[in-house]
Amino acid sequence: MKENKANIKKIGVFTSGGDSPGMNAAIRAIVRTSIYYGIDVIGIKHGYDGLIDGEFEFMGAKSVSNIIQRGGTILKTARSKRFITPEGMERAYKQLSAEGIDGLIAIGGNGTFKGADEFGTKYNVPIIGIAGTIDNDLFGTDDTLGYDTALNTVIDAVDKIRDTAESHDRLFIVEVMGRDAGLIALRSGIGAGAEAILIPETKTDLNHLIERLKKSRKGKSSKIIICAEGDEAGGAFKVGEAIKKEFDFDIRVTILGHIQRGGSPSCYDRVLASRLGFASVEALMGGERGQMVGIINKEIVLTPFSKAVKHIEGLNPNLLRMVEILSL
Ligand code: F6P
Repeated sequence: MKENKANIKKIGVFTSGGDSPGMNAAIRAIVRTSIYYGIDVIGIKHGYDGLIDGEFEFMGAKSVSNIIQRGGTILKTARSKRFITPEGMERAYKQLSAEGIDGLIAIGGNGTFKGADEFGTKYNVPIIGIAGTIDNDLFGTDDTLGYDTALNTVIDAVDKIRDTAESHDRLFIVEVMGRDAGLIALRSGIGAGAEAILIPETKTDLNHLIERLKKSRKGKSSKIIICAEGDEAGGAFKVGEAIKKEFDFDIRVTILGHIQRGGSPSCYDRVLASRLGFASVEALMGGERGQMVGIINKEIVLTPFSKAVKHIEGLNPNLLRMVEILSL
């Protein structure tokens, strides 16, 4: 039994930014852990917008029944423009005080934690973050909630695309999410056996790509390129346009889009969500604040928001080199 050193009596929980599979499992863990420790939980709807508007609802043990397996977020989510204004933050603080909430748990990504950092510091509110984004683009955790599920969604889709690519001897350029981060593209590309992976973090050399595709083993009946939406060359359609005149086989583009954000979370994401939800409540009780809770090498780790939001610098260049070799 963890001691409630900070004397937390009421926790507010919200999800913010793009949703990700596993958010509901984290909410469940937060609610059930809090109840165990005799702490009330208030669900805040629509992220920071709901904080400003006082969209609060009491959450009992039953309110989180049967959600561990559900994608999306029962608390809804939003990217709030109002919260980044001084007036928005002040209104949010008044709502929080009026409700008697003495600690917050924010589930989201970069934008969510930047807002939490500013708000928590300015108004002296204890806030703990849980990384919920399919992009996996935060420091302080090996994986973010939803990343594993999104990867499985992508490789499942690419496996299907490969069937038709093979039948028609086509090249497919599959665009995956990742406006600023290429981790989904890199990992799913390796898992799906792609010929090439194009990501925002590295320069996309189209001439090199064309050369490689021309040299690739004769008789290969399908070719798959995975392209992150924020890739340096401007995304899958632009890459397709730029290279199509160089080849006599058909080229098709598929944008996977928001299907990557939906679906039932994988077992890995459910376990991650349960551990992070549980740890976030205990962190608040222990007097921690202004930090994101993550898992590194299987252990719970707290990282200050200011560090967590520093986008992962550079990706392992060996992985891209390996992709070129394995797709001979
Ligand atoms: O932040 C997660 C993410 O899925 C990005 O990969 C993507 O670029 C973005 O959200 C899309 O956001 P929206 O749903 O607002 O279009």
